Amino acid sequence: MTSMNARGDAALIEEILSYHRAHIADLEAALALSARVEERQGAVSSFPPGLTRRLSALLADTRAHQAREEAWLSSFVETGVGAAHATDLLDVDHDLMQEHLERLVRLTGDYLPPSEADADWRGLYALCRKYDGELREHMRLEDRVLFPRLREEIRGLVPEQSHAPSGG
Ligand SMILES: [Fe+2]
Ligand SMILES: [Fe+2]
Repeated sequence: MTSMNARGDAALIEEILSYHRAHIADLEAALALSARVEERQGAVSSFPPGLTRRLSALLADTRAHQAREEAWLSSFVETGVGAAHATDLLDVDHDLMQEHLERLVRLTGDYLPPSEADADWRGLYALCRKYDGELREHMRLEDRVLFPRLREEIRGLVPEQSHAPSGG
């Protein structure tokens, strides 16, 4: 087991994982709604072209990012081994997620449905707005609390790990 034995850390990680599940559920629901609205509206509508494709790309990148993050977290929790630079890679992922959100904001006009939008379309934008707020908050939690805390713990482990075997 790792030195990461503070209950606060375990609770924080559990909270992170529950967010991950909720994010995937929301994105899957948004993707299904978007596909339905897009199909119904057709090419003559003001429904943003490419929104369904964009949500699909966001879902794929979110899954990939969560998998990297969870693999890194579970390896650290189980073995106490972690690489400080791994959080740098997760930072790059977060920049990508941020770009996704900015594109989504532009594509949907800040999630404001036009007057002709039907209930599904309005529901889709409400869901996207909710997801946007929750993902930004989630990344803030990881960037400002989780990653710095884990970097700190990894730094604390380095002197022990760097001891060369005695002898020679
Ligand atoms: Fe996360
Ligand atoms: Fe993350």
